[in-house]
Amino acid sequence: MNGIFITFEGPDGSGKTTQLKKIAQELQKLGHDVLVTREPGGTAISDKIRSIILDPVNGEMVDQAEVLLYAASRAQHVHERILPALKAGRIVLCDRFIDASVAYQSYGLGVDIEMVKNISKYASSGLQATRTYMMDVPVEVSLERLNQRAGATEFTQQLDRIEQKNVEYHSRVRAGFHQIAADHPERVIMIDANRDVERIAADIWQDCKQLLEEHISV
Ligand code: TMP
Repeated sequence: MNGIFITFEGPDGSGKTTQLKKIAQELQKLGHDVLVTREPGGTAISDKIRSIILDPVNGEMVDQAEVLLYAASRAQHVHERILPALKAGRIVLCDRFIDASVAYQSYGLGVDIEMVKNISKYASSGLQATRTYMMDVPVEVSLERLNQRAGATEFTQQLDRIEQKNVEYHSRVRAGFHQIAADHPERVIMIDANRDVERIAADIWQDCKQLLEEHISV
């Protein structure tokens, strides 16, 4: 497999999507073939699953269904889009991946962590990111940003089913992301995302350039 698989993780409202787009632009400027994608989603089937998962009307969804729907979306995404792109030598930038299931479904909801990891492993056929940029912001900051976003666009972008959960839930998710970063220092780079957007982008880009050099020299 010749491509590089890079994921962006972090709480809702941490600015990871903005950063992902900036890195994609930098890579494209250098002539790299980049696939920008996201989870849940990234294929027609996965996007349908995404709308079921996030629809605020589905408040009665049980934890088991939530875990399996994220995994189903991932399975389709990995096999239909990510693996073929990596095989073709492309750089894949993915907005969320398995770490999100561990943080949100295990640390957030309390689903057994080994179960979530095993289901995710099955869904992804063992694919893991080469590098993960984990955007970290205090929970109050991320929730404030989400509320502003929802308020600014009123009907078009109200908070989804996951974003609507309480502060305690989001605090557990953030703690989960910290634990994942501590468990995988070789892969995960923790980024202080409570700073100026350009400074954050500069830090990520510096690491990303180094990653590319290492990849080319292998
Ligand atoms: P997004 O807002 O970054 O597009 O992600 C959608 C929501 O789904 C977000 O609240 C995080 C959540 N999520 C999980 O709970 N588990 C997962 O495995 C993934 C990929 C996302």
